[in-house]
Amino acid sequence: MRRAVLAAFIALLTFGGDALADNFPSRPITIIVPFSAGGPSDAMARILAERMKATLGETILIENVTGAGGSIGVGRAVRSPPDGYTVSFGHLGTHVANGAVYKLGYDLVTDLEPVALLPSNPMIVVSKNAVPAKSLKELLAWLKAKPAAATAGTAGAGSGSHIAGLYFESVTGIKLQYVPYRGTGPAMNDLVAGQIDLIIDQTSNSITQVRAGTIRAYAVTDAKRVESASDIPTTDEAGLPGFHMTLWSGLWVPKGTPKDIVAKLNASAVDALNDPAVRKQLENLGLQMPPKDQLAPEALGAWQKAEIAKWWPLIKAANVKVD
Ligand code: MLT
Repeated sequence: MRRAVLAAFIALLTFGGDALADNFPSRPITIIVPFSAGGPSDAMARILAERMKATLGETILIENVTGAGGSIGVGRAVRSPPDGYTVSFGHLGTHVANGAVYKLGYDLVTDLEPVALLPSNPMIVVSKNAVPAKSLKELLAWLKAKPAAATAGTAGAGSGSHIAGLYFESVTGIKLQYVPYRGTGPAMNDLVAGQIDLIIDQTSNSITQVRAGTIRAYAVTDAKRVESASDIPTTDEAGLPGFHMTLWSGLWVPKGTPKDIVAKLNASAVDALNDPAVRKQLENLGLQMPPKDQLAPEALGAWQKAEIAKWWPLIKAANVKVD
């Protein structure tokens, strides 16, 4: 292993990135998922990795490096060698919101190279079954009447489920008491067990439990219903017009990774998104494919900057306290 890295490094010095790119990949690639195994980010990364390993001809390992709303896992990727063998999986929370919540010690735009925009996930308002509400309007009334703030599970400050909560609070004026987990996978276990009241979750994480009847869904935060869960109304239909949020995901690599390697990783991710079996798996979870003209690495870079401009003011206004 050390000999291979050394050889690759000497090749880089002698022939530049080209040699690295030509031989890429020549050993397993690691995708760092900054949230718990079994959650929505983990599920999407594993489905894509299964197909990407076929096109890249190398094993792809998923490493769950959790904590601090995903910022620890992203930090690990930022500090990794820029050789394409460490890929950062993330989303609106980890690669946009966290920059407005934490003193990260790295820059989300200049310390990472965008690789590919991945599917997006309409958020969904779900609660434990014991909540005495059968519609979004009844849920809002229950939340407003509740003497103490309802407990809302999140994947930590800055995570998608937390940002959705802040947005919900800003739109409804209802205060929530956040209960942080290392991912919405473990948060879901507590929701099913009735330990917490609600999650504003990614549809892909809740849909299986909703179908099983172990939790209750009220609305999806999108202008249109989710095809694979068309019985669940939109927030517009359910009485919270305009409360729209979809959580988009993406892949990044450390700054300085040779362009040819970024191109190979991008081509492999795009191939996976175009694979009918992969699409079926992702769409069955309620995930929406990125637009065809948004699949180049630069498209993710431009989108990330636009989302930073859109979300940072709301997040900073919420004055999120993190230790
Ligand atoms: C997860 O995989 O747990 C999520 O992406 C967490 C979140 O951001 O809500």
